[in-house]
Amino acid sequence: MPLSVKHLLGIKELTVNDIEQIFKTAESFKEVLQRPIKRLPTLRDTTVANIFFENSTRTRLSFELAEKRLGADVVNFSSSGSSVSKGETLIDTVNNILSMKVDMVVMRHSASGAPWFLSQHIGASIINAGDGTNEHPTQALLDAFSMREKLGNLKGKRITILGDIMHSRVALSNIFCLTKLGAEITVSGPPTLIPKHIESLGVRVEYDIKKALEWCDVANVLRIQLERQHKPLFSTLREYALFYGVNKKLLDGLEKEIIVMHPGPINRGVELTSDVADSKQSIILGQVENGVAIRMAVIYLLSGKRDLTDLT
Ligand code: CP
Repeated sequence: MPLSVKHLLGIKELTVNDIEQIFKTAESFKEVLQRPIKRLPTLRDTTVANIFFENSTRTRLSFELAEKRLGADVVNFSSSGSSVSKGETLIDTVNNILSMKVDMVVMRHSASGAPWFLSQHIGASIINAGDGTNEHPTQALLDAFSMREKLGNLKGKRITILGDIMHSRVALSNIFCLTKLGAEITVSGPPTLIPKHIESLGVRVEYDIKKALEWCDVANVLRIQLERQHKPLFSTLREYALFYGVNKKLLDGLEKEIIVMHPGPINRGVELTSDVADSKQSIILGQVENGVAIRMAVIYLLSGKRDLTDLT
């Protein structure tokens, strides 16, 4: 089954069938990634450009690995050190890259809506690798895929998304993805970091972090995004850690053992202490591992290839 979309701009546009199709394909690719030879020839006639206008470690490396493991040719572009500093526009930059016979574009940009804008002007498929405070669809897919591996079907499962909800594209994409899959969601954090009217997205708000953690099966803890906060929204990082940080004492005081997730990069000692981030309750590195299989699935399904016989 092909996806219902030409681009992956956000989870908002995906159907439940699209998400299930991506998960099913990712399961096959995850199996391939356990083999000694992890490379497939599936996309040997395809060239992908990863264009990053914002910093990244996990997403950039994960997309590059996913593309190479599917046999694609890969070119990488970072805005720092490029002709963007000489005033070249986004469309000119991308059209120049596409004129070198590129078939697919993976893009991260600090401006919300940048991948959508690009999709109106170019013919190639675009995958959003994070746009401003809007969406980070492949992160939400790998998060939900990782939760499913631990909990099975997510219908009725309780997920708390904790921290800087206001500036987080991961929060919005998680909310869209998890509600489509039937999970119940609570958002928690300081009132200044929770957008007004967020309940209209079908989530509960709980400002008491202990109650929010007591309620859930999974806590997806988010990074404090100081780079997007243009005015102070809490006093100090120390105060944030004291009132909203997840630490071992807090988790040990809960009635049941919950799963702890974080999209990375972690501010250790702020939103998570190291004894939680590195504990057996944490599946943070499992999320990163699943990111490659999920991105392989998204690239494969958007490429229009219809034959997975290469896998057998
Ligand atoms: N989770 C995530 O997007 O991490 P990077 O910013 O390192 O890509």
